[in-house]
Amino acid sequence: MFLTRLVYASTISENFSSSDIEEILKSARKHNKINNVTGMLCFNRKFFLQCLEGSRTKVNEAYHKILNDNRHSKIVLLDYKEIDMREFSNWSMGFMPDSSLTAPINLKYSGKGEFLPYEMSGESAHQMMLELRELTDPIS
Ligand SMILES: Cc1cc2nc3c(=O)[nH]c(=O)nc-3n(C[C@H](O)[C@H](O)[C@H](O)COP(=O)(O)O)c2cc1C
Repeated sequence: MFLTRLVYASTISENFSSSDIEEILKSARKHNKINNVTGMLCFNRKFFLQCLEGSRTKVNEAYHKILNDNRHSKIVLLDYKEIDMREFSNWSMGFMPDSSLTAPINLKYSGKGEFLPYEMSGESAHQMMLELRELTDPIS
């Protein structure tokens, strides 16, 4: 059972409402706990950047559901690889709101001070999420 990490970017759908993010996190954490999937979701009210890690089968199953979720669109895979260990093992799905996505952090990992996940390399996106991980305690 290989451990894998998947990183993707997406955009909220037109009919996205502010309560959707709570529902997404609730559902993600519930399913991820059952499936031993861990990771982080960054969200600036327009774009998502998500990292999923876990067994290859479970990460792929979660990604297939996420691809078919009409609360977002323009889903672009930024990175997919086999890994030796998890980096978000204490997070069933950590959440980073726009208040954490500051200009200095964006500038460090991309060409601009804005949160533009489509313009980030998979590795930059991954490194940025590792730095964000240090800002707050794990959410279970
Ligand atoms: C941006 C975004 C991130 C999501 N992250 C996860 C996740 O990490 N794990 C998960 O199981 N579902 C996640 N979901 C929800 C799934 O798309 C799906 O609604 C959920 O797994 C419930 O599936 P079910 O109807 O088969 O029970 C996410 C959805 C969105 C829009």
